[in-house]
Amino acid sequence: MPDMITVSDDLTFALTNRFFSYVFRVSPEGILEHLHYGGPLCEPLDVAVHHIRTQRSVASTFQGGHYFSLGDTPQEFPSFGTSDYRFPALHGRNSDGNTIFSLRHKSHEIVTRKPRLKRLPSARGGSCETLIITLEDPLHKLEVELLYTIYAEQGVLVRAAKFSNCGEKEIQLQHAFSSALDLPQDDYEILHLHGTWAREFNEERIDMPKGRFVVDSARGTSSAAHNPFLALLQKGTTEDFGRVYATTLIYSGNFALSVERGEFEDVRLLAGINPFNFHWRLKPGKTFCTPEALHVFTDGGLRAMSHIWHDFVREKITPKRFKDTPRPTYLNTWEAAYFDVDEDKVLALADKATDIGVDMLVLDDGWFEGRRDDTSSLGDWVADAARFPSGIPSLARRVKEKGLKFGIWFEPEMVNPKSALFEAHPEWILHVPGRTPSLGRNQLTLDLSRNDVVEYLFSQIDAILSCGDIDYVKWDMNRHMTEVGSADLPRNRQREVSHRYILGLYKLLKRLTKKYPNVLFENCASGGNRFDLGMLSFMPQGWVSDMCDPVGRLEIINGASYLYPLDTTAAYIGPSPNHQNGRVSSVQTRFLAGVFCAARGISLNEADIAEHYDELIAWMDFAKKSGADMVGGRFDRLIRNGNEVCWQYTTQDKRTVYVAYFHILSAPNLPFRRARLVGLEPHADYMLVEDGARYKGDALMQNGLPMPYVSTDQVRDTVRYMEKGDFSSYLFTFKRG
Ligand code: DGJ
Repeated sequence: MPDMITVSDDLTFALTNRFFSYVFRVSPEGILEHLHYGGPLCEPLDVAVHHIRTQRSVASTFQGGHYFSLGDTPQEFPSFGTSDYRFPALHGRNSDGNTIFSLRHKSHEIVTRKPRLKRLPSARGGSCETLIITLEDPLHKLEVELLYTIYAEQGVLVRAAKFSNCGEKEIQLQHAFSSALDLPQDDYEILHLHGTWAREFNEERIDMPKGRFVVDSARGTSSAAHNPFLALLQKGTTEDFGRVYATTLIYSGNFALSVERGEFEDVRLLAGINPFNFHWRLKPGKTFCTPEALHVFTDGGLRAMSHIWHDFVREKITPKRFKDTPRPTYLNTWEAAYFDVDEDKVLALADKATDIGVDMLVLDDGWFEGRRDDTSSLGDWVADAARFPSGIPSLARRVKEKGLKFGIWFEPEMVNPKSALFEAHPEWILHVPGRTPSLGRNQLTLDLSRNDVVEYLFSQIDAILSCGDIDYVKWDMNRHMTEVGSADLPRNRQREVSHRYILGLYKLLKRLTKKYPNVLFENCASGGNRFDLGMLSFMPQGWVSDMCDPVGRLEIINGASYLYPLDTTAAYIGPSPNHQNGRVSSVQTRFLAGVFCAARGISLNEADIAEHYDELIAWMDFAKKSGADMVGGRFDRLIRNGNEVCWQYTTQDKRTVYVAYFHILSAPNLPFRRARLVGLEPHADYMLVEDGARYKGDALMQNGLPMPYVSTDQVRDTVRYMEKGDFSSYLFTFKRG
């Protein structure tokens, strides 16, 4: 492996691989001055454009120096109050009671590995190098280690910061961002993903305003309101053109991604824990670790950006054990029966599941003591004695005797006021003295910052998983946090609770997934309310949304795919009319909207199954046969406008290419459309499975593939038609010759 990190004698640092160069230097004052982040440079230490030092009227000059203001200096880790007025990466209170910190270069080290973070999930190593820069504030004895990891085969730069109190007095951290990126002036647009329950991952693209723009969460989970993702785009960026700087975090709690366009048009991007309502007491001798921030640069547009993310998430984030493992097809009881589940019903659905050829039966919410609706029982993780008299282990065994796998739902982090657990331990919830805790879906949040709560949850879940017949766990979480306080912490540590909660959650997940490496865990939070790389570090797949209507789900999957490979997602054929928006759609379109998700299944009752029996058999058969295809392949967005979506999926071995096309509302006399495919081998033959027609790769990429036509008059046999009417869909399958 060639050296990817180089350092000059006068302390310029360059990180370079085939995807990017990242360059900064130590200024004469000892400040880390950012020089370049962009395409790879052959002589990165010789970057042409340095920061120009100039005297600006009214600017404050840094600590008496001439022509040097931090206010217009691009920096690696800015603090506040010493001539820079922009939002800082570090802000806090020192033992003198003021907030002025001044960080200077102290030392640096290069290691040929990827350091792991204590108590936080972090990207895996491999062929990589890490530059560790130590900055210090000698006055207040604060040291900040900046970690930069570059990989030989990945386009992602991983950053994190560690704050150590090397003095004898307490330091209080308020801003402890993971990374700061000061980019030069340009005409940027911002792309981010926002939403709410059942409408997650909506994309918004806006011109970068002057001032500060933030996507963040103060809800305790990373949340559906803003997924932890933000990209700065060269104006006019398309799928295959444009410079893109994109960022995310390996974190599941309150985060912030802040962009600020300063007075000289420079742009600062900060990524990390949300400073709002955060406060960490750093005692002498203690270190605080931030979550990892991930950065991607490409000049190849959104498609190249997504490929870099997808590859990285698969290679370095999600559990290796499931990396190229086809996921079982499944029948989930939720939209089939909601809370009305019992042993007989589950066994009857298991029979249906066997008949239509799915691999796994998933028992969703409603199985535990007294749980007949969402008003009670969370916390009491024992099978309901009346409805599941033989208990979960025996049910799991009986389901498995039918040749199926067995999966089960938990919502471990929650408790209902009406539950034995709450009666026994009212102090175990997040709460603050003198305030009535607010409810969300009739439930309260357990205080996972407490060790005893984490221990208790481990023992409860372990008691069920240890029967050995559980193949899958759906880990749900259905509310935002309020009155965030802990009875276990002193008054002056209450603003640490949100972060400590996430550390407790990670501890629990780490222990469980280590003990049960073969159990497939699926992350869910009312759908995509905590869909992030923190959770994906423990669970290979997640439930992106409760929106199972195909039209709604197309947008959600399209948005999620900017960052997440679809083999981290699950989808099922739900009922029609759809339970979330009432739309009627065909089984085919319901299936195809999720066709490129790794985990595919159904959630239908016996009557619906009977009505669509043959079609379900056919689609589940397709899902099973294509299961191996849907892990590790390449996903491309080809068309997306208000009325059409077209996606391409190319399998890992590049031998099979699927193209899914969706036409939302029909209309008379429409134009004929074509999609230009991408990433094929120009000279190879691609055979369309449905009719044996052969196309050259270059023809499909340059000339395009005609999309099927929606028309009420299906008369010409030279035209490929779709179903008549609204919400039509079509799937092409090509085999490379
Ligand atoms: C919310 C999830 O998103 C649903 O799929 C289902 O599991 C319910 N919770 C159960 O309460």
